Amino acid sequence: MTLFPEIFNSYMNESIMKRAVENNIIEVNIYNIRDFSTNKHKKVDDYPFGGGAGMVMTPQPIYDTYKHIVKTHNLINPRVIYLTPKGKVHNQEMATNLSKEEDIILLCGHYEGIDQRIIDLIVTDEISIGDYVLTGGELPALILIDSISRLIPGVLNQNESFEEESFKDNLLEYPHYTRPREFMDMKVPDVLLSGNHKNIDDWRYNESLKITKERRYDLYKKACKK
Ligand code: ADE
Repeated sequence: MTLFPEIFNSYMNESIMKRAVENNIIEVNIYNIRDFSTNKHKKVDDYPFGGGAGMVMTPQPIYDTYKHIVKTHNLINPRVIYLTPKGKVHNQEMATNLSKEEDIILLCGHYEGIDQRIIDLIVTDEISIGDYVLTGGELPALILIDSISRLIPGVLNQNESFEEESFKDNLLEYPHYTRPREFMDMKVPDVLLSGNHKNIDDWRYNESLKITKERRYDLYKKACKK
């Protein structure tokens, strides 16, 4: 549910997201909240009661969009996620859990926000994509779509696999190298050319530990606990 449906088209029509849609592994339907406004000028926002800066999205068009989606797709108690900086900060574990849901409705806000009654009435989760404020919920919604979709079986192929990547077991990923063996006087670490898989695995694991300890001590502590 968005006021800016076009934002989704370009991203969903490229690369891995496009392929996932074409292969019918995921389906993304965009609903323009403005289409559901009963106001004769298709107005979707109004001044805040109590005064203050900015406009607030009115409840009627959002509620009617929601009702339409629930009916069209025969949904029973769907997850409805409102993207907001006030929400729980998104992470890999949340993406993994959401990738197991059959249906998810994403609600993108704009302006100063949406009428609280919509949140009380239909929203089941409030999610933030980080401690900074964006102009709307569309980029956050795309980030959710991307981070969730790539964890659904069949979306990534063998080469794109997420078996070894950052945040697995709370570790950041080890460094990667490809050809040439030497570039600007810098050599690829010998162990990676050794063909000894035990040594390569050990080296990668140690590099992961090292970089996680340096950059993300919060994750490092969790990784050591397991
Ligand atoms: N809308 C505006 N800023 C946001 C953020 N950081 N996360 C989610 N939705 C938002």
